[in-house]
Amino acid sequence: MSVHISAKKGEIAKTVLMPGDPLRAKYIADNFLTDVTLVSQTRNIFYYTGKYKGKEITVGASGMGFPSIGIYSYELFTEYEVDTIIRIGTCGAYSTDLKLFDILNVEKAASESTYAKFAWGIEEDIISNQGTAFDKINETAKELGLDAKATNIHSSDIFYRKDPAVPEIAVRYNCPAVEMEAFALFANAQHLGKNAATILTVSDIIPTHEFISAGQREQALRTMMELSLETALKF
Ligand code: HPA
Repeated sequence: MSVHISAKKGEIAKTVLMPGDPLRAKYIADNFLTDVTLVSQTRNIFYYTGKYKGKEITVGASGMGFPSIGIYSYELFTEYEVDTIIRIGTCGAYSTDLKLFDILNVEKAASESTYAKFAWGIEEDIISNQGTAFDKINETAKELGLDAKATNIHSSDIFYRKDPAVPEIAVRYNCPAVEMEAFALFANAQHLGKNAATILTVSDIIPTHEFISAGQREQALRTMMELSLETALKF
């Protein structure tokens, strides 16, 4: 047990797939894993451990934002000896250069957040994916015939804002999309010497207000789920 996860030691696999939404974790467990056990449901943040093609994998939610993914990823890395976390999330596109359903493999996450500085003394405002997961995702995408675009993204603390202009940090670091978690995940992994990657599906185009409907979401996210599961086999 850790402060926010009630699984016993040994009940969490070395590789964790991490959607934001607990119900998405349940969907993956129900549709892709066998021999599944619900190992934690503290705060309804579900963690399931099961097998994918014979390999033990845990899938569990991060919740939204840096504080939430910061807590779960830290406890998984430090109290459950997790080696690799692959976040699988959605993002908004800042321009129509990206299309709905595009899949991104995050190279670096840029943020105005002070999370990394005050947690670990990391002064940089852009942090790379950590370890080997990013390369394994690229390799797996190729094998599956998927286009997973390697790109920088903006990790923001803010979903709603007054100014519709693309934030300065996103322009500076050439970030075509925004989400709210990768920067803190990468910061924790950098500090602890662990593997961390983030795969994103474009769920909304911010300037045109297009978005993936609830009905389209399931199939759209299945592609990303399969990419992460197949990548997990390589650890
Ligand atoms: N902003 C931040 N995070 C997001 C968005 C967005 O527009 N879409 C999906 N995650």
